[in-house]
Amino acid sequence: MVNGSGTRYGAIAQFFHWCTAILVLVAFIYGPGGPEQRVYSSAHEFDRRLHETLGLCVFALAVIRLLWRAFDTRPAAPDGPRWMSVLATVVQWVLYLLLLALPLTAITGAWLQGHPLTLVAGIEISPLFAASHGAGATFASVHEWLGDLIMWLAGLHALAALFHHIVLKDDVLTTMLPRWFPTGRTRSSR
Ligand code: HEM
Repeated sequence: MVNGSGTRYGAIAQFFHWCTAILVLVAFIYGPGGPEQRVYSSAHEFDRRLHETLGLCVFALAVIRLLWRAFDTRPAAPDGPRWMSVLATVVQWVLYLLLLALPLTAITGAWLQGHPLTLVAGIEISPLFAASHGAGATFASVHEWLGDLIMWLAGLHALAALFHHIVLKDDVLTTMLPRWFPTGRTRSSR
């Protein structure tokens, strides 16, 4: 099913979700990190190009996903304490915000430091505005900090999904899995 229903996210929403999870993880692993000299050294050329390319893909995917989400049907929150569904919703929106803020702070930081975006296949995108090195370094630090934050939040979010599945024994995890994982309960759509 391309569209979602009361019991499960649709195939497209699931595709966006799992692609994003993989891209974010690989981009984090290949993130060169550290001082500017290290990030832009020739030793980290491959890592940086891959990291920046994946970051741009994450951004594009997040924008398309949010547009799709506006028209798609999503499963309702499971029965249970209200604080749990409020917390889950807050975490999901912070994750969406981070998916947009991470690439934007990276691009702004690189350009303000006077570096082009360096992508795979030798593609480079020169700065679109004048350099201001100190401000660029601040954006680069914020980017690293947000990168750590998204990993912690996504980790907690994944643990919460497993907690629902193993301890609460509800359908939260299976809503984000393909149809061959059966769901036991019907929920109204939102
Ligand atoms: C193994 C890792 C992960 C698991 C098991 C997982 C599981 C889930 C599940 C079960 C849902 C549906 C929850 C519900 O409707 O209450 C969901 C939604 C969501 N997940 Fe994940 N997730 C993982 C990784 C990630 C990552 C890495 C991100 C982003 C960085 C992410 C972002 C989101 C967002 C934004 C939603 C809300 C979808 C919507 O309704 O628009 N997830 N996830």
